[in-house]
Amino acid sequence: MNMDRRDFVRQSIAFAAASAFLPACAKDNSGKGNANMKVKVTKDKVLVVYFSRSGNTRHAAETFAKASGGARLVEIKAAKPYAPDYGACCDEAKPECAAGTLRPIEKIAGLDVAAYDVVLVGTPNWWGTLAPPVRTWVSENAATLKTKTVCLFQTHGGGGMQNCARDFAALVEGATVLPAESYYGATVKVRPGLKSFVTDRLIVEGSF
Ligand SMILES: Cc1cc2nc3c(=O)[nH]c(=O)nc-3n(C[C@H](O)[C@H](O)[C@H](O)COP(=O)(O)O)c2cc1C
Repeated sequence: MNMDRRDFVRQSIAFAAASAFLPACAKDNSGKGNANMKVKVTKDKVLVVYFSRSGNTRHAAETFAKASGGARLVEIKAAKPYAPDYGACCDEAKPECAAGTLRPIEKIAGLDVAAYDVVLVGTPNWWGTLAPPVRTWVSENAATLKTKTVCLFQTHGGGGMQNCARDFAALVEGATVLPAESYYGATVKVRPGLKSFVTDRLIVEGSF
């Protein structure tokens, strides 16, 4: 299968067209978040966790960790890396994403999620949902995350948020979920004002 950006653009146009015709009473399954106030947190209580194959989500995660005054930044890695070729990786990930498979991930040494108050989770959009290693990490830590303030950020190839925020919110039901954000991967590294993801949501005490 050969999937490129045009496929995602086509997919997102179809999605937008379909959404425009949803009745006003349609169930809100956006998972966009239930808190609209800024959350106060001290800088050593913010954790940023991400998975990234080609660096877009990593860039956002690094920016957000810095904007949080030097938050702990943790990369999620698949125990068995995905195929390096883009198309092969897409083929490998497709059934996992469709089935919600929990792809095994590397153990993260010395990380105590319970020690943080706010956890920002970054994923690329893979087949409209969370990249499987992110699903695994969130699932493995769900009991702890449910007692925290959490927020998803995502980068995509043209499809936008699709089901990522909804699927994340479902995994952490019970947590305070701040509004998720989606960034176009191809331009995220040159996007001005990226750190507003953090400043719009958090008041980080002790960071400046
Ligand atoms: C396996 C796979 C599936 C993808 N599926 C989608 C998709 O459904 N919708 C979309 O907009 N982009 C999709 N993309 C594109 C990525 O979401 C996009 O390039 C993202 O910014 C990559 O982030 P990264 O550089 O952190 O890995 C996919 C990419 C891969 C490798």
